[in-house]
Amino acid sequence: MQSPLQIVVLGAGLIGKRQAEAVQKSKRAEVVGVIDPSASGKEFADELKLDWFSSFDEFLNAKKADGIVIATPNQMHVDMGLQCVAQNLPALIEKPISDNAQSASILVEAAKTAGVEILVGHHRRHNSIVKVAKEKIKSGVIGNIVAAHSSCWLCKPDNYFDVEWRTQ
Ligand SMILES: NC(=O)c1ccc[n+]([C@@H]2O[C@H](COP(=O)([O-])OP(=O)(O)OC[C@H]3O[C@@H](n4cnc5c(N)ncnc54)[C@H](O)[C@@H]3O)[C@@H](O)[C@H]2O)c1
Repeated sequence: MQSPLQIVVLGAGLIGKRQAEAVQKSKRAEVVGVIDPSASGKEFADELKLDWFSSFDEFLNAKKADGIVIATPNQMHVDMGLQCVAQNLPALIEKPISDNAQSASILVEAAKTAGVEILVGHHRRHNSIVKVAKEKIKSGVIGNIVAAHSSCWLCKPDNYFDVEWRTQ
């Protein structure tokens, strides 16, 4: 049997924790470390009995991994993604890939040139409802679609916006 892929989680906040827990449930992968300078990041690593690193550099100097989940604030995704590309480390980067289109392109091009896989966490594309909608459209059952307009509204509790970067 193949040994499980070793995954490290960079940024263990709301979503990074969920990503780590999802990986831990998989038979094909395991989390081997958490990188997050915050006290809650360390607490989380301790809870899961995982190695904890206060910075990406500290991790790179100490350990290897097969892949990384980048779940830090949006503004950090490109720099961290470029570091992963430089390290030949495939990355799942939480959405949005960047906070501007130009730097997003720089990261995408760098990954292509280096041949390093990066994937943006647009998980709703894999949602079963969306998959069925796609199949129906492809089957032609609703005819030739010439335009589509869709929107999705989600309600976040007020305290979600107490985290500074979310309003910047
Ligand atoms: N896929 C989704 O459905 C989904 C949903 C919500 C958020 N997100 C995305 O996930 C990302 C994280 O969102 P969140 O809500 O979990 O944010 P959060 O603020 O809860 O967590 C961010 C974490 O990153 C850590 N961090 C900050 N600087 C760091 C550094 N230099 N190195 C390592 N860790 C660092 C913080 O300590 C914090 O624990 C955002 O890009 C967000 O848009 C995706």
